Amino acid sequence: MIVTIDGVAASGKSSVASGVARALNIPYLSSGLLYRAAAWVALDNGLRLQGPQAEQLLLTLLRDWEAAGQGLRLRPDAAGNQVWQGGRDLTALLHTAQVDAQVSAAATLPGLRSWVNAQLRALRPPFLAEGRDMGSTVFPQAEHKFYLYASPRVRAERRVLEREQDLESVEAALRLRDERDARQSAPAPDAIHIDTGSGTLEEIIAQVMARLPKR
Ligand code: DC
Repeated sequence: MIVTIDGVAASGKSSVASGVARALNIPYLSSGLLYRAAAWVALDNGLRLQGPQAEQLLLTLLRDWEAAGQGLRLRPDAAGNQVWQGGRDLTALLHTAQVDAQVSAAATLPGLRSWVNAQLRALRPPFLAEGRDMGSTVFPQAEHKFYLYASPRVRAERRVLEREQDLESVEAALRLRDERDARQSAPAPDAIHIDTGSGTLEEIIAQVMARLPKR
């Protein structure tokens, strides 16, 4: 079984995905964390992600690490995904404002998208995959697809609880990311849409569970 949960930035995807995956007792995959890891690698190596040359440099670096047995690895832990590079856990470095600002540029690079997709498709179902294009592009064959959304203001209010920033600038940054992410965030035509703006996390998880077959 493959379940996909896609949606806009800060729509609550990760929390809902993790809750649903736990209830189903299957792993969940955070594709966004792999994009974040690639963006962090670019920042850490002083690569400005613009144009095919920068993309080539980034992909070469990732492949060289891979060949040396030190490649980036997504660990689909049910309690929260992690990304490791060799013996180093990068997870705590991936949710900063700097990575937020860089990750949309990383996510527009076609070669990087193929790299992320190949990592995900190499994993064996059952799992729940969470991101932007899981239902539309990466796992179009998935049996159950969801698309989460909420207004920019509601999402900004949530995000200020996680980051020390003011509401107005967080909302403006989210609107900008929505624009940049729009192309790869189109919902799959067969996805069930759920508004996460009203209701608690538990209620949203229950709404998703109600649409899934009983196990
Ligand atoms: O879900 P998130 O906010 O952690 O995702 C980080 C970024 O990666 C976001 O700007 C959109 C991008 N992304 C993507 O383009 N495709 C995915 N499947 C997942 C994330």
